[in-house]
Amino acid sequence: MKPLKLHALFTLLLLVAATAFAAPASNPAPQASLGRERLSLDQGWRFHLGDIPFPAIVGHNQTYANAKAGRAWGAAAPDHDDTLWRELDLPHDWAVEGPFDPKANISQGYRPRGFGWYRRHFQLSPEDRGRHLELQFDGVATHCTVWVNGIVAHRNWCGYTSFSIDITSFARFGAEHNTIAVRVDAEAMEGWWYEGAGIYRHTWLVKRDPVHIITDGVHANPVRAADGTWSIPAEVTLENSGARASTAEVEMILTAPDGREVVRRRGSVTLAALTQGAVSLTLPVEKPDLWSVDKPTLYTVRTDVYRDGVISDTVTTKCGFRTIRFDADEGFFLNDQPLKLKGVCNHQDHAGVGVALPDSLWEFRIRRLKEMGVNAYRCAHNPPAREFLEACDRMGMLVMDENRHFNPTPEYIRQLEWLVRRDRNHPSVILWSVFNEEPMQGTEAGYEMVRRMAAIVKRLDPTRPVTAAMNGGFFTPLNVSHAVDVAGFNYQIRNYDRFRQENPRLPLTSSEDTSGFMTRGEFVYDPATNRMSSYDDRRANWGATHRDAWKAIDQRKWLAGAFVWTGFDYRGEPTPWQWPSVSSFFGAMDLCGFPKTAYYIRQAHWIKDRPILHVVPHWNWPDRVGQPVKVMVISNVENVTVSLNGQSLGEKRVDPYDMATFEVPYAPGKLEAVAMKDGREVARFAVETTGAPVALRLTPDRPALAGDGWDALPITVEALDAQGRPVPTANSPVTFALSGPGEIIGHGNGDPNSHEPEKGENRRLFNGLAQVIVRSQRAGSGPLVLRATSEGLAPAEISLAVQAVPAIPAVPPMTIVPFPVAAWRLSPASTTAPDPNQVVAENDQNSWVTFRPGQLQKLAGGNWAVLRGQFTPPGRVRADGGRIRFAGIAGRAEIWLDGKLAGTKEDFADKPFEIALPAGEGARTLSLRLETQPDQPAGLSGIVTIELLR
Ligand code: GAL
Repeated sequence: MKPLKLHALFTLLLLVAATAFAAPASNPAPQASLGRERLSLDQGWRFHLGDIPFPAIVGHNQTYANAKAGRAWGAAAPDHDDTLWRELDLPHDWAVEGPFDPKANISQGYRPRGFGWYRRHFQLSPEDRGRHLELQFDGVATHCTVWVNGIVAHRNWCGYTSFSIDITSFARFGAEHNTIAVRVDAEAMEGWWYEGAGIYRHTWLVKRDPVHIITDGVHANPVRAADGTWSIPAEVTLENSGARASTAEVEMILTAPDGREVVRRRGSVTLAALTQGAVSLTLPVEKPDLWSVDKPTLYTVRTDVYRDGVISDTVTTKCGFRTIRFDADEGFFLNDQPLKLKGVCNHQDHAGVGVALPDSLWEFRIRRLKEMGVNAYRCAHNPPAREFLEACDRMGMLVMDENRHFNPTPEYIRQLEWLVRRDRNHPSVILWSVFNEEPMQGTEAGYEMVRRMAAIVKRLDPTRPVTAAMNGGFFTPLNVSHAVDVAGFNYQIRNYDRFRQENPRLPLTSSEDTSGFMTRGEFVYDPATNRMSSYDDRRANWGATHRDAWKAIDQRKWLAGAFVWTGFDYRGEPTPWQWPSVSSFFGAMDLCGFPKTAYYIRQAHWIKDRPILHVVPHWNWPDRVGQPVKVMVISNVENVTVSLNGQSLGEKRVDPYDMATFEVPYAPGKLEAVAMKDGREVARFAVETTGAPVALRLTPDRPALAGDGWDALPITVEALDAQGRPVPTANSPVTFALSGPGEIIGHGNGDPNSHEPEKGENRRLFNGLAQVIVRSQRAGSGPLVLRATSEGLAPAEISLAVQAVPAIPAVPPMTIVPFPVAAWRLSPASTTAPDPNQVVAENDQNSWVTFRPGQLQKLAGGNWAVLRGQFTPPGRVRADGGRIRFAGIAGRAEIWLDGKLAGTKEDFADKPFEIALPAGEGARTLSLRLETQPDQPAGLSGIVTIELLR
């Protein structure tokens, strides 16, 4: 510890006096518990695009002050002028708002990223004093520094790792507000895909009792013992941030989906002040309903903490009863049933919104994947949003949960630990992946690193295997496959068998495969215009077509399954092309979630319980009359017949992997396929030549939205011909107008070469489709009407019902943020009237002490002192002038502004006071010559603020 520097005796006396007067009792009796509140902080942020360099610090006084808690400089300071910053609500991704730039990074989708600043002001009620107060940031891309009330509170080094900040000790209550300032560095890159920029996930303020469950402090993940009995070996981690030791009783109650109580158990722990402790409980459960991908049954664990007999904290978690097993010979088992993993890898961006996805879009995306036959999702290559995993639990989607940084050093271990602690209750999570394609994978160093990381995972969660997605190093004497439970192959068809032969006891899965290219709705490969054909005939040279990749996996029982690169397109990696292509071609669906041919191929491969039949391409080829067109019939049914305008083109057996292809001389009309099983028709599908577009059509994903300001849904935009058929080649420009309680938050059309803005009212259809995403307004209700127009086409209009719902509990934004005079110093006391405008020596760091308004103090050594405040008024006050409001001055005072007498307070009573603040640029100085009555506390009893003249 640094030796405490002794202040001058005089100052010390003054401080002691101040402490004796104003500080709360050092060990206050605990208040009645106010329980837990989890409040959204998403609303009401101020944003500045671009960096705001910290002003140069010159002079000793500034240098000294800058080094002190609460005295952050520049835009990090509570009294920085943010009045002209843009106001917005989170989640926010500024990269997707900007234009594309051919000079920007290709892998980030040619989106400039850079730096940005966010600020948020909020007040806490005096009743919150003593509660444990925590800010939570679910995800900030990419690096950031957070200051709270001028204190540097966190530095974050991973755009996918959540963080929380305990602000209990330095929070401000009552009129004096709190200021969060976040500097985001999105120049930093952690991946080779589009990562977005800004505070793109939710933020929260969590208020808790001093005796509370810590963040992610409930571990309640059911396990089945070798004898077949089920239990939840639970652990609850508590903290006591209060001033006295306390005994916490913990009760856990498990309820079934129908609300029936299954079991409850109690335990207790005594926590000294400022310590953590854990309670372990075992909840036995008889014959639970199992969780599976087809029937994702979720139970609820309610954990109550009792302090002094009263519930002081409650956390509700979900859990699912299921077993998982990776077998070296037979692949993956869910609940003892073999289940081939039909997985996809995905990044986390979506059309129109970048990485700032409303929670409801996760559900949309998972539902689209399930419709494609997907049962597993790899979060490539980073931890996902919490709401995504909650949706996977609810909807029955297995998850390979992936860590971002392959690094066994303390900061990165902290990130890994956070991941496992946060996600270990989710029944959907079946694998922890510690890395993707690391150059050290075939080395001893790689092995040692994985060994350490795997041990940390196992300590926190012994129930799930650890894997690593390797693309090499498999056959070196010591490599990471020797340190994992399941080896993951990225693009290793050629090595599957050899590796299995050499490692017969190690369970194996594809962790990444395919990397095929398609542009949705295109059937001609054209490198001149960066267009891919959609016949599953293009792939990266390290990858395979969808059909070959699945065949290699499906024919090997011991391979647990597939993870296709990728389910959806994503921004960046326009492989094999570059500008003007800005997003990828890998998805089975495009950036909006519109299906490409691969989607149907996967359906045919993966869906067994109903006939799948689809035909490509579309049948609008006016330039190819009489020429052969390649037709691909995609089906999981054995035989298909194809006819054109009623003329049979023959019957073919459908290869279960390769599908069936026909060469058809093109003639406009109707191309129809019929799927035949055991000589009977089981499905029929046709593509028809359409006429020119005459009208627009809008189809919402759901008919209604919750009016909470969070719920969002995609709306499909199409152009129809005179017979009401969607025109697959339409590229009409469309303009949108929305009225009612909601807003358009973005749009897309799935064209990887499009440079149209993703925000605003205009979007062109691409090969017949576009998508608009609308979000409800807070406290919204009533019809939300979207109208789409396009020249020469009949407009379309839909009305969505925005339903009134209870507001999401939130920290209200401050509509008027008082601008504080925050930096104050107090002179030594004197027995005679001092010169209010005396100069403080530049190197004087001890005779004039800093203080914050809000507490009175008794002067020691005389009845006179000078209070000096320094500030730079906010922009409009600088231009127009304003006033300075003192919430309370106790004592008589002469108030000088920039060396001129500006007001005189004649009496000693503690009262508000006000002076005019003339317009003017630059830093301003307030000096109060204060006179107190002997032994009476004096000074500034409340905040000092700058206000505009109204
Ligand atoms: C893999 C990598 C993915 C993506 C893919 C493209 O090597 O893991 O992130 O880049 O290639 O084919």
